[in-house]
Amino acid sequence: MKLGKRLAQIEQMVTAGYTHIWDCCCDHGLLGTALLNKHTNSNVHFVDIVPELITGVTGKLQHFYPSEQKRWHTHCIDVATLPLKQFAGSHLIIIAGIGGDLMIDFVSAIVEQHRGEQIDFLLCPVHHQFKLRQSLQLHQLSVIDECLMKENQRFYEIMLVSTTASKGNVINLVGDKMWQAVSQEQAHIGREYLDKTLRHYQRIQQGKKKDVAQIVKSYQAVTL
Ligand SMILES: C[S@@+](CC[C@H](N)C(=O)[O-])C[C@H]1O[C@@H](n2cnc3c(N)ncnc32)[C@H](O)[C@@H]1O
Repeated sequence: MKLGKRLAQIEQMVTAGYTHIWDCCCDHGLLGTALLNKHTNSNVHFVDIVPELITGVTGKLQHFYPSEQKRWHTHCIDVATLPLKQFAGSHLIIIAGIGGDLMIDFVSAIVEQHRGEQIDFLLCPVHHQFKLRQSLQLHQLSVIDECLMKENQRFYEIMLVSTTASKGNVINLVGDKMWQAVSQEQAHIGREYLDKTLRHYQRIQQGKKKDVAQIVKSYQAVTL
């Protein structure tokens, strides 16, 4: 099945050379299957917490990829408990399509369980991007690549980050490279997203229940 625009963008940001690629919260396994086809030297792990989904994915993989059985793995587990230590080599952990708060919990749990190890994450949260970036900064992750995209009237930040500081740059709380448009369409998406995000935090600030003045200031400082 063809990937939608968001999953296709995520797939494109996966660089070659990882021993293990983890498609976490894989749902029906669309992204993982595309990665299994494309990255033929990598192992692809399909992870979801819902047993019926993992049974379905396992069945499809057995049917369509019987000769690749050594390269694909399915896990019905909580993403916070990934068994990385059981698999030697380099790891890319992809987490997409869940809320930023849950993503913070997953990344924090994985980083804390694997202190000192090099792990890359490719993240695409739904909401709470600023808070997620704060948490990534706290864990001293570095950003290798990032982009902003729009699908079905929703905006998505996609970030490739690493526990290895030297692999990328310090995380910017409002994003950095993703605002540097390379096309008219991208510039338009950037303007729309910045306006929307600013309006969101200005509304919260006016409500006076939470002080987000610093967040508003940070987004106001973004230059397009
Ligand atoms: C909306 S789907 C995202 C599918 C795909 N990653 C995407 O971006 O389109 C969210 C998936 O996360 C799974 N999920 C939720 N909590 C989870 C957890 N703690 N561990 C593993 N999977 C979880 C759900 O079962 C569901 O399949």
